[in-house]
Amino acid sequence: MCGIVGYVGSKDAYSIVIDGLKKLEYRGYDSAGVAILKDNKIKLFKKEGRVANLEAMVAEEDITGTVGMGHTRWATHGEPCDKNAHPHYSNSKQIALIHNGIIENYAQLKKELVAKGYEFHSDTDSEVLVNFIDDIRINNGCTLEEAVRIALKRVTGAYVILLLDESVPNTIIAARKGSPLVIGIGQNEHFLGSDASPMLAYTKEVVYINDYELAIVKPDELILKNLGNETVTPFVQKLDMNLSQIEKGGFDHFMLKEIFEQPSTIFDSFRGRMDVEKNTITLSGMDAVLDKLDAAQRIIIVGCGTSWHAGLLAEYIIEELCRINVEVEYASEFRYRNPIITDKDFIIAVSQSGETADTLVALENAKEQGATLFGIVNVVGSSIARLTHAGMYTHAGPEIGVASTKAFTAQVVALILFALKLAKHRGTISDERFAELVNELNVVPEKVEWIVQNQVENIKAIATKYQEANDFLYLGRGYNFPIALEGALKLKEISYIHAEGYPAAEMKHGPIALVDETLPVVFVATKDRYHEKIVSNMQEIKARKGMLIAVASEGDTHTPEIADDVMFVPDADEIVGPILSTVALQLLSYYIGVEKDLDVDKPRNLAKSVTVE
Ligand code: F6R
Repeated sequence: MCGIVGYVGSKDAYSIVIDGLKKLEYRGYDSAGVAILKDNKIKLFKKEGRVANLEAMVAEEDITGTVGMGHTRWATHGEPCDKNAHPHYSNSKQIALIHNGIIENYAQLKKELVAKGYEFHSDTDSEVLVNFIDDIRINNGCTLEEAVRIALKRVTGAYVILLLDESVPNTIIAARKGSPLVIGIGQNEHFLGSDASPMLAYTKEVVYINDYELAIVKPDELILKNLGNETVTPFVQKLDMNLSQIEKGGFDHFMLKEIFEQPSTIFDSFRGRMDVEKNTITLSGMDAVLDKLDAAQRIIIVGCGTSWHAGLLAEYIIEELCRINVEVEYASEFRYRNPIITDKDFIIAVSQSGETADTLVALENAKEQGATLFGIVNVVGSSIARLTHAGMYTHAGPEIGVASTKAFTAQVVALILFALKLAKHRGTISDERFAELVNELNVVPEKVEWIVQNQVENIKAIATKYQEANDFLYLGRGYNFPIALEGALKLKEISYIHAEGYPAAEMKHGPIALVDETLPVVFVATKDRYHEKIVSNMQEIKARKGMLIAVASEGDTHTPEIADDVMFVPDADEIVGPILSTVALQLLSYYIGVEKDLDVDKPRNLAKSVTVE
């Protein structure tokens, strides 16, 4: 949610910042802005829309300088427009600020500032914050750094802020609570970013800033302090990422690239963990908390959106294989409904970004109640990865397309590994079934490869045929019910077509009233224990003239006789099969979005990392 970039050094700050903003645009793309500090003057430009609009606006300007910061916005307070774009000046125009997050008590702070005569030129909480800080600086006669420290003690909400002060050359002041901030360390230069992508071309040495830390960043110095003004030693980590991972590599869109990458990302998520020869699964993160799992009376899985769908699928798998009670919670509901949590609860957080505010706060609350937290996270070093007691990374690599694809399938693999190891540990799985599933998982990458090699033209044709529909229904049973939900979510995000996912058997309890000859109904109808029943549900739709699209197992000759159109996936065990059906549905959403000429990588109103509640 909002991307921020900063640079202090001797290179041209504007080009580094604008380049970084393009890499972070997936975090928000309502408006963009930059501020460059040179000769004790801040030059500031901002514009509604994509970073490209800003670039066009600045093209003729003299914007040289070696210190600068930029912002790409996902609107929270105030509509997307020029005036609400960041950076924001304070009234004195001596200070400029960019902000990612939400200042919850901004209304009260604004009231106080208005009473003092401050004027506001935007509808944002961020402009309130910069003036609140500047007011403290002016009234207390203190440095900007001190003013930030004092101000943040009164601020509630979430933030990463970067500030420039015309009277402090070669310096960016930054602070964080609840939103991500990475500082890259170069030779006499520092880079700041919401994630590491803007600095990847320059350095692999980074420091992840913690909540309530304040950074004073100069070309040759990085000073970290807590809000109590004590110095904190920066913990420098090496990035395990390269530039090609964050580029499109010949694909039209990141989303397509990421769908096609799944044979290797799925392999990466079990590589080194699953040994087919020895028939073993090694998860050191899990070993660290096996005693907690032994004591646990239930497992609670929390997440949002697509990650919640992975959690829902894991509920079915873990209960089946491990015979332990699993509950799946939307993090946003879980955190507010005063759930009963004890030190006997084992909580699995599923998150691609590791920064989702709802998930993060749900975990913080559960930690306070003594629960054990286990993270299934993609972004290394992210807040959720650091907050949890133990966990496993999904190793999907950077996911740039705003709609999650490869991160989901990697989450499912990680959760299957977790379930298999736990089942073995609890003695709830036979040796034969364990070996069978290990072997099944091992061939998933080649089965996904088969889909992307053999089904694309077929799925494109289906997308063309149905792209004008106003609504879609997605139905599945058992392990395929979460996949129906995920398929519907993907279609909504990418094509803006209304789509609903439902358990196939629930259809007759209401949604069947929607069915007529204009409604495409997508069935996840692969061969599993429910296949006969789902075929009956398909017949029920056909009898009411609905248009039937099925995801079916390769070799199934019966389903194509009933369905109008079929996407085939290789036959697989019912526990790993949902991964394959997901890939087919991802492709369907992608090609419908492309048919409709929409920006599939950056769907409207969305952002990749949702760091507001
Ligand atoms: C959908 C999507 C979102 C995220 C959700 C959670 O395509 O990407 O629904 O899954 O915002 O994000 P993470 O996994 O980063 O916690």
